[in-house]
Amino acid sequence: MSINIKDYIRTIPDFPHEGIMFRDVTTLFLDPRGFRMAIDQLLHPYAGKRFDKVVGLEARGFILGGAIAHQLSVGFVPIRKAGKLPGQTIAQDYKLEYGEATMEIHDDSLSAGEKVLLVDDLLATGGTAEAGIKLIEKLGAEVIGCAFIIDLPDLGGRAVLEKLGMDVHALTSFSGE
Ligand code: PRP
Ligand code: MG
Repeated sequence: MSINIKDYIRTIPDFPHEGIMFRDVTTLFLDPRGFRMAIDQLLHPYAGKRFDKVVGLEARGFILGGAIAHQLSVGFVPIRKAGKLPGQTIAQDYKLEYGEATMEIHDDSLSAGEKVLLVDDLLATGGTAEAGIKLIEKLGAEVIGCAFIIDLPDLGGRAVLEKLGMDVHALTSFSGE
């Protein structure tokens, strides 16, 4: 039987508010085969490449990033919403559907020239990932790849990241569904 990543993703209509189709990856993480398949597929295009660190975007990027960093035997770096990281940080503002938010990274978590794989569960407008890329680059490190479970192409995030010169990898997409 052939299994597909999409089969493990649950869609919850009208969450967190009316009109939003929430793509829930907790059902993918819950299934041992689904989770393992997702980690394997996220890494597939990078076989043979060398990374120094994996960076995960809060919150579901931590779940993926931890498993991927373990698989690659490299360190993991969290990028968190403002005010959560205890050490010295640098910050980057980004746009949300309504208003603005800020992401932070520990300023000693990456060194100049380090090669980074950036991971998150979902790419929508690309604002969150773009903020992450800016933080990584401010520390002098280089983003070699941006990997996501889900791309929502109608929201244009892939184009935003590709314009920044990024290599974008997504396992599946939802468009007009
Ligand atoms: C969701 C998702 C991505 C981001 C994508 O996170 O997990 O991180 O939105 O959207 P964008 O491409 O338009 O920036 P959310 O902001 O809901 O926070 P959470 O992961 O902490 O729940
Ligand atoms: Mg998120």
